[in-house]
Amino acid sequence: MLTYIEEMIKLLKTPTIVLNVKTYSEATGKEAFDIAAIMSKVSRETGTSMAIAVQATDITLCAEKLDIPVYAEHIDPIKPGSHTGWTLPEAVKSAGAVGTLINHSEHRLILADIDVCITRAKELKLDHIVCSNNVATSKAIAAFSPDFIAVEPPELIGGDISVTTADPGIVSSSVEAVKNIDNNVKVLCGAGVKNGRDVTKSIELGAEGVLLASGIVKAKDKESVIRDLVSGL
Ligand code: G3P
Repeated sequence: MLTYIEEMIKLLKTPTIVLNVKTYSEATGKEAFDIAAIMSKVSRETGTSMAIAVQATDITLCAEKLDIPVYAEHIDPIKPGSHTGWTLPEAVKSAGAVGTLINHSEHRLILADIDVCITRAKELKLDHIVCSNNVATSKAIAAFSPDFIAVEPPELIGGDISVTTADPGIVSSSVEAVKNIDNNVKVLCGAGVKNGRDVTKSIELGAEGVLLASGIVKAKDKESVIRDLVSGL
């Protein structure tokens, strides 16, 4: 019989839409829960795969009552012990996360620490999306065989032009480079993704979904943006 975690990971099929809510006030605490609830509803209704990465303090709030996969935004390369103020992989798992982002552009790690984080995530069966800023970094990370690599050019993060329009080559080249190293690693793309057209384009470029933030978090009508994004899958 599958464990709860294994059941939830099964839900993150590709193509997928992953929302990272960062530390936006519009997505902290109850606001994070409300967005996760909309995603959970739309995901169920449309049969599409979506996940949400929330602040560590909001994992339990979102994971306890909703059936959408909840991710941590970060883990540190540590084991239980004396590491004050760090994020223990075991802790995010016991809080209810089924996965985690690693090495987001806004919380970068050195390569050796990315390796340890991926190893720790694998030990704990935590699904993991490792972010990269360019093709060379995507290649380096692919050598660790993570579940996902999400390529996001930092200069486009939070902007209005999607990576799929501003720099489509970084997506297709990352997919090609990663698949040449390990065909099992799935590639997502992100930065500036706002609508269904951007999602469709990401799939055309060979990605298996998108990682986005402000397009949903900053939207007035979050549900219609989520439905539009889903229409692009
Ligand atoms: O992790 C997603 C992210 O960095 C992209 O942010 O606001 O450009 O969708 P955004």
